[in-house]
Amino acid sequence: MTAILETQGLGLRFGGATIVDDVSLSVPEGLFVSIIGPNGAGKTSFFNLLSGLYRPSAGRVFLRGADVTALPPHARVRRGLGRSFQLTTIFPGLSTLENARLAAQAARPGNFALWRGAARDRAALDRAAAALATVGLRGREGVPAGSLAHGDKRKLELALLLCTEPAVLLLDEPTAGVSAEEVPVMLDVIRRIRREEGKTILMVEHKMDVVHDLSDRVAVLANGALVAYDTPDAVMADPFVRSAYLGVA
Ligand SMILES: Nc1ncnc2c1ncn2[C@@H]1O[C@H](COP(=O)(O)OP(=O)(O)OP(=O)(O)O)[C@@H](O)[C@H]1O
Ligand SMILES: [Mg+2]
Repeated sequence: MTAILETQGLGLRFGGATIVDDVSLSVPEGLFVSIIGPNGAGKTSFFNLLSGLYRPSAGRVFLRGADVTALPPHARVRRGLGRSFQLTTIFPGLSTLENARLAAQAARPGNFALWRGAARDRAALDRAAAALATVGLRGREGVPAGSLAHGDKRKLELALLLCTEPAVLLLDEPTAGVSAEEVPVMLDVIRRIRREEGKTILMVEHKMDVVHDLSDRVAVLANGALVAYDTPDAVMADPFVRSAYLGVA
């Protein structure tokens, strides 16, 4: 299988501290890979290196075999690497559909420049409406984003990400802050994205049942280093992982 995303010897140091330590990870196209590890293990920092928010102190990042280590975040987005949007990038006074349309237009200006006027708006609008439907926000298109319930805001974040038409999605704790009743709904949304759109997904998640349920592979980070990368069953049976991370003997 071809790797759609790959890191070679990726490292990050802040001051004297090693945050990400020599991580070489290869993600085949179409797989669902979860990244687990204790708090402070470097999971979010690793994502920031992938998306280009942080520059590595060592190593390289490849997208479809091309070295993107020197590219800024927006250039990686254009090459199909989707970063999740933060709630702060949502315009609260605009409708969910307007927010999604703006995300669709901003992500691929090159694509839309091929068309003119109405056709260009139409393409972005169609993409926006489809993304809202995928995440389960159909019927909420006209609602101001700021007045959505928290769970629906998290779904809108996913919709904005889909509007950028990523081949690879980076999801950092997509169920964090989502109420207990809404967690299964969120998981269904993620499954639907995987099934209908055939995306490659990397997800950081603490909930082990969720990880086991969704993942083809699980990568374990501890003190910034990749200590295991295998199927969910194999990782959860690994004695080192069980004692060092899961806290079971
Ligand atoms: N911008 C930064 N400057 C300095 N230190 C940082 C920075 N970002 C992260 N760190 C440090 O890097 C380490 C790893 O943090 P990171 O947020 O990547 O961990 P994490 O695995 O995502 O943890 P969590 O499960 O709590 O989200 C922590 O010790 C953190 O304090
Ligand atoms: Mg984190």
